[in-house]
Amino acid sequence: QLDPLPALTPEFLSVLNKVCEQCYTDFAPDELEMGVRELILKDLETFIRRQLPAARLQLFGSSKNGFGFKQSDLDICMVLEGQESINDVDCIALIESLARLLRKHSGVKNVLPITTAKVPIVKFYHAQTGLEGDISLYNTLALHNTRLLASYAAIDRRVKVLCYVMKVFAKMCDIGDASRGSLSSYAYTLMALFFLQQRNPPVIPVLQEIYDGQKKPELLVDGWNVYFYEDLKALSGRWPQVGRNTETVGELWLGLLRFYTEEFDFREHVVCIRQHARLTTFNKQWTSKYIVIEDPFDLNHNLGAGLSRKMTNFIMKAFINGRRVFGSPLQAVPPVYPSLMEYF
Ligand code: CTP
Ligand code: MG
Repeated sequence: QLDPLPALTPEFLSVLNKVCEQCYTDFAPDELEMGVRELILKDLETFIRRQLPAARLQLFGSSKNGFGFKQSDLDICMVLEGQESINDVDCIALIESLARLLRKHSGVKNVLPITTAKVPIVKFYHAQTGLEGDISLYNTLALHNTRLLASYAAIDRRVKVLCYVMKVFAKMCDIGDASRGSLSSYAYTLMALFFLQQRNPPVIPVLQEIYDGQKKPELLVDGWNVYFYEDLKALSGRWPQVGRNTETVGELWLGLLRFYTEEFDFREHVVCIRQHARLTTFNKQWTSKYIVIEDPFDLNHNLGAGLSRKMTNFIMKAFINGRRVFGSPLQAVPPVYPSLMEYF
């Protein structure tokens, strides 16, 4: 049922690689833009602390994980100094009072508290930069998975470029917005990292499986072990496969599309970046879902849990189309994406 791919000549692979590299240079923010994000954060923190002196704000998500775009949203986590955690009732109350407070900030527009979501947030729009942002409370695991992703991004430049291509692909195909029933950028980043771990030879190790000594250290946050190997300078001594994979990003991108359309059995296996051995959907008792993506720390969290069957098909079709389009030499057939509207 899948079209056979033509011979992948060196010329073809070189063009494909250029397309991927271009994607990165077109969308990656420069240092100045990263600095602006920190300034917005400081400005908001100063403003909030006039009313709530214990408030501390921190950026996470793609502003910090190495996979940010020029226009990526600002993901901000707020905690109150001296307070370990927050219960659901207080969380909603604090989100609502935060929203009232932010409405008084002249640089911020469209302030909207969303208290029904799994993670309650206040959304806003920063008028001067045109950036959207949201503030969540005590989103501690997200701070840790941001550090984990940043470590993977720092291991090899190809990780960064490939994850960008994956995110651009998801946004262009309209399959990258969890609030509209598809998957979050975070989920696609996990899919790309999993592919890079499973590639033979692998491009990246499983950082959660590397440790000094006999036993994996335990660092519990919200009841989950957030340990991973962070000493990247010493990684070559810990991971013998370092430098073995020499494929270009272009080859890896086509490899990824082929992996998820030809090789990986979604019915059988879980996309899981915390261990190298394949984890089965049966082990997790997640057999009712087709796309199963396990969060690296919160092992009860399946990123694909919210997908309808129709959306799952829509996403798989996008991958099949992607494989065909990126696997065909120049002047390829234009992609045919079914309209998203059909699915609502
Ligand atoms: N996150 C999470 N669990 C989810 C969704 C998101 O832990 N189900 C956390 C991750 O730390 C993620 C961050 O929230 O990096 C922000 O999510 P999102 O904005 O969807 O992804 P980004 O990586 O920030 O990508 P984008 O550039 O599209 O904003
Ligand atoms: Mg984000």
